[in-house]
Amino acid sequence: MTKILMVCLGNICRSPLAHGIMANKLNTKNYYVDSAGTASYHIGSKPDRRSIEVALNHGIEISHQRARQFVVADFDEFDYIYVMDRSNLSNILSLSRDDEDAKKVHLFLESNPNISDKNVPDPYYGDILDFENVFNIVDETCDIIASSLED
Ligand code: 4NP
Repeated sequence: MTKILMVCLGNICRSPLAHGIMANKLNTKNYYVDSAGTASYHIGSKPDRRSIEVALNHGIEISHQRARQFVVADFDEFDYIYVMDRSNLSNILSLSRDDEDAKKVHLFLESNPNISDKNVPDPYYGDILDFENVFNIVDETCDIIASSLED
């Protein structure tokens, strides 16, 4: 079983989309996908209603997800930890205990050569179009990552 963790700040906008989209692309017999936030603000909350809506418009159900905060034990549990932006990257790396932990952490958009800004934009203070944009960026990138994992 290969385990993948998607990480953003609040675990209500970007990483729930990445979680739902990636889980939808991989065979759940061989892959486990989860998500977490670096911050504690939204622990226990459902994804933002706009993430739920945009995902559902693309046939993906994420409303059962509940936000949680990243914990150091996630370094033991997961094989790949994908962070949505450089701020998440420095926060997660600061929690790593050794090189083995740090090697699991990847800036999500480093996998996508078509996008030059390597931060998935935070749509929290935006509108539904910002969430749609995040969906498209994340969907394209999950396709690339899923193909490389399955190689
Ligand atoms: P996310 O978006 O990191 O994509 O879940 C945010 C969610 C909440 C906040 C910021 C970003 N917040 O400040 O509460």
